[in-house]
Amino acid sequence: MKNRKGIILAGGSGTRLYPLTMALSKQLMPVYDKPMIYYPIYTLMLAGIREILIITTPRDNASFRELLGDGSKWGMRFEYMIQENPNGLAEAFILGADFIGEDNVALILGDNLFYGESLRKILTKANSDEDNSTIFGYQVKDPERYGVVETDEEGNAISIIEKPEHPRTNLAVPGLYFYTNDVVEIARNVQPSERGELEITSVNEEYMRRKQLKVVKLGRGMAWFDTGTHDALIETAQFVQTIQKRQGLLICSPDELAFENGWITRSQLAELSVPLKKTEYGQSLKALAEGDEMPW
Ligand code: TTP
Repeated sequence: MKNRKGIILAGGSGTRLYPLTMALSKQLMPVYDKPMIYYPIYTLMLAGIREILIITTPRDNASFRELLGDGSKWGMRFEYMIQENPNGLAEAFILGADFIGEDNVALILGDNLFYGESLRKILTKANSDEDNSTIFGYQVKDPERYGVVETDEEGNAISIIEKPEHPRTNLAVPGLYFYTNDVVEIARNVQPSERGELEITSVNEEYMRRKQLKVVKLGRGMAWFDTGTHDALIETAQFVQTIQKRQGLLICSPDELAFENGWITRSQLAELSVPLKKTEYGQSLKALAEGDEMPW
């Protein structure tokens, strides 16, 4: 199977979170007990992706490197790049062309959180489709706030409309996209929109024209949050807190998943827990490293 790399877009301006983000990246903000970027890292790991390019603003690049390092602590490989200006999501593939090389790629926005029982299966399937690109559809009450997708009976995308006044479906498109290697060439040919951005919708439209864009619906049991406003940020944090407290299981812990995926050993996991020992997060990792019972 063709390898797939991952890109996390963690730049942007974060103006909807001002003044929080005036001196610090949105994707370093806390979502309960973890920095926001842990959540999209986890999602890519769940798809089996081990090599990730993290794209940041010039201001925040050093902070992400300090937090995450080269990825080896989770048995992964991280690279970093700077996006000078927020020129749009599709720029990720132009900046990341060398990193992507001959491989397929998944892009996730740094402020998106996914959680749900069947997620690994869904992502693994999207990962293994080498001939098509895959986006997702998530039912929302207020589709007019999102990019809205319409599909045919076979799950092919037939229209995507940004913030439609009269949405044809209630399926919003979350910030997670699995693309074939062609995405680099497609992104290079995208023209800036009226707002001056290289739009991801233009990339998706080209895949639709080629009849290569599948839509996978995320069902009832799935949680999707984008954490870009004050209310969304605290609601997402409360969701994480509520489930973790109730079940005693961590939500979207890359440390835990690195172990579950077999990318680090039990003793490496134990080492990771040491500096975190004063937190419930660290105690959970320690218990996992010492226990016989796996929570999954
Ligand atoms: P948005 O939430 O659309 O934009 P933003 O983060 O700049 O925030 P605001 O609207 O409050 O000013 O961006 C979605 C995600 O994509 C977010 O994680 C930032 C990232 N992003 C980039 O990294 N580069 C870009 O050029 C754009 C447009 C977004």
